[in-house]
Amino acid sequence: MNEDIKEVLYSKQQIEEVSKKIGVQLTNDYADKKPLVICVLKGAVLFMADIIRKIDTYVEIDFMDVSSYGEATVSSGEVKIIKDLDVPVEGRDILIVEDIIDTGKTLQCLVNLLKHRKAASVKICTLLDKPERRMEGIIPDYVGFQVPNEFVVGYGLDYKGMYRNLPYVGILKSEVYENN
Ligand code: PRP
Ligand code: MN
Ligand code: MG
Repeated sequence: MNEDIKEVLYSKQQIEEVSKKIGVQLTNDYADKKPLVICVLKGAVLFMADIIRKIDTYVEIDFMDVSSYGEATVSSGEVKIIKDLDVPVEGRDILIVEDIIDTGKTLQCLVNLLKHRKAASVKICTLLDKPERRMEGIIPDYVGFQVPNEFVVGYGLDYKGMYRNLPYVGILKSEVYENN
């Protein structure tokens, strides 16, 4: 699996450091707000698990499964809700946790939905932001790293469902997806 990676972009340690930094900000910003922290499955699971342990105040968590990419390397632009939230969002302060924002279509759809359901506030925390590819006016509130326009995998990010379990984020060798 590691041999398919051209270059490690963010190491386990760099991710740990940036998560700690964001955790301090979230602890301050959400003190006494008891936010509902939403993990966008599946990519955000690793970042979610790490970031909530760095928030030192009351939080509730929930999961939503939406998918736009399917098996392709490029977003189809269609966002499907596969699993909805279990918890009502009306009047809640919402923090969405993502692994990466690419075109922004996934988050645009989610933010619209949560506002329609009368959330008190909606903020976005993402490990990676790829602003070069943005097609929607989505601006994350908390960002780990701004990532170059490369196909990245690891730490939750997949190619055809694989590589999510890499402890770091790396660039996938182009021959891996060109030959598939
Ligand atoms: C990926 C990624 C984000 C989204 C970003 O999810 O995890 O959720 O795409 O792309 P966008 O900004 O262009 O919408 P994907 O749909 O591949 O599902 P997954 O998390 O289960 O891999
Ligand atoms: Mn995702
Ligand atoms: Mg994916």
